[in-house]
Amino acid sequence: MDMRPPQLTDMPLDARYSAVRAHTLALAAPLSDEDCGAQSMPDASPVKWHMAHTTWFFETFILERMEPDFAPFHPAFRVLFNSYYNGVGDKHPRAQRGLLTRPAMAQVRAYRADVDARMARLLAAELEAEQRAVLEMLITLGLQHEQQHQELILTDVKHLLAQSALLPAYLDAPRAVETAAAPVAWVNFEGGLAEIGHAGDGFCFDNELPRHKQYVAPFQLASRLVTNGEYLAFVAAGGYFNAALWLAEGWDWVRTQGIKAPFYWHQDEQGAWTEFTLHGAQPLDLDRPATHLSLFEADAYAHWAGARLPTEAEWEVASASTHLQQMFGHCWQWTSSSYAPYPGFQVAPGALGEYNGKFMLNQYVLRGSSCATPDGHTRATYRNFFPAGARWQFTGLRLARRH
Ligand code: AVJ
Ligand code: FE
Repeated sequence: MDMRPPQLTDMPLDARYSAVRAHTLALAAPLSDEDCGAQSMPDASPVKWHMAHTTWFFETFILERMEPDFAPFHPAFRVLFNSYYNGVGDKHPRAQRGLLTRPAMAQVRAYRADVDARMARLLAAELEAEQRAVLEMLITLGLQHEQQHQELILTDVKHLLAQSALLPAYLDAPRAVETAAAPVAWVNFEGGLAEIGHAGDGFCFDNELPRHKQYVAPFQLASRLVTNGEYLAFVAAGGYFNAALWLAEGWDWVRTQGIKAPFYWHQDEQGAWTEFTLHGAQPLDLDRPATHLSLFEADAYAHWAGARLPTEAEWEVASASTHLQQMFGHCWQWTSSSYAPYPGFQVAPGALGEYNGKFMLNQYVLRGSSCATPDGHTRATYRNFFPAGARWQFTGLRLARRH
């Protein structure tokens, strides 16, 4: 089975729709129905719920508005698979998604097939130019949304499988061998009055707008991500027990939760480190980028290394440089920037305005993309965001310092 996401560039919209929808099913294919129903923590969702919620998005935000004689596949699904849209109405409680033994997987697959058939009919229908433009915009958003959930399926499955002493592998294929990490170089950037935010007429999320000017002081960025080997040196040096390295909230977090190493690391009696991966437990590979770090851990490491986290503007300004490696496709890179609206940010009217804007408090921006991010879902202006303590995403760091 091919786990690589489809290449979407230049495909017509109906083909893109089919390819993205099929990829979600491909991600679920290695899993049993039992795997797909379980929820390992409130932040993670069952695969079955992701499969239904992404379908609900098309049914609620497109079919309900545009389908002649709309009738829901099932009226209760409007509540069950509403993630957080108050503008849509009632929601099933997030932490109880794993209790949904009904609908069964077969019914969720039927729901997906039904919505896909109705979407195909709508796309093939005669529409006025303005209606067609709205439809294409909403389908594009729905597909980008489904791609976000494809990444969440992988992070949530990893978290779920990690709960069992069986340490099951999601993927049978052996893990690719990582080449030795190159020595770090510090790349200089002069800064100045820069422009950040999305430009052009390709797709972006609303939180990447508007493009605006920001002053950036001269800075340096590390040419690559921090590796497991480098992070292990911080662990071995007692980094988790040195209060001077930690933000106050981070220190409370490590102490109260007894945290001593990255999320999926495990040290055996002989002192050897392993790491739980989608390929099962593996020896810790010192050349790979350190991942599953909270912002607290990333910040403490940077402090220990005599550096700091980049700001999101620094990251974006630097992103075009050919001297930087591992900007995309390895792990999301924590920044020190609060996830806040860009100056002039406008919340879209209606329930879809709840997509990003209402989360702009108490979270931090991550830049780049991870090994779990579908191709075609990465941009230099992309703003991912999570709270400082989140560790189940593929999150790592790149160091910055003053120039
Ligand atoms: C951008 C990954 C934080 O997980 O809620 C999914 C993605 N938005 N459905 C999230 C998202 C709406 C979002 N993150
Ligand atoms: Fe969603």
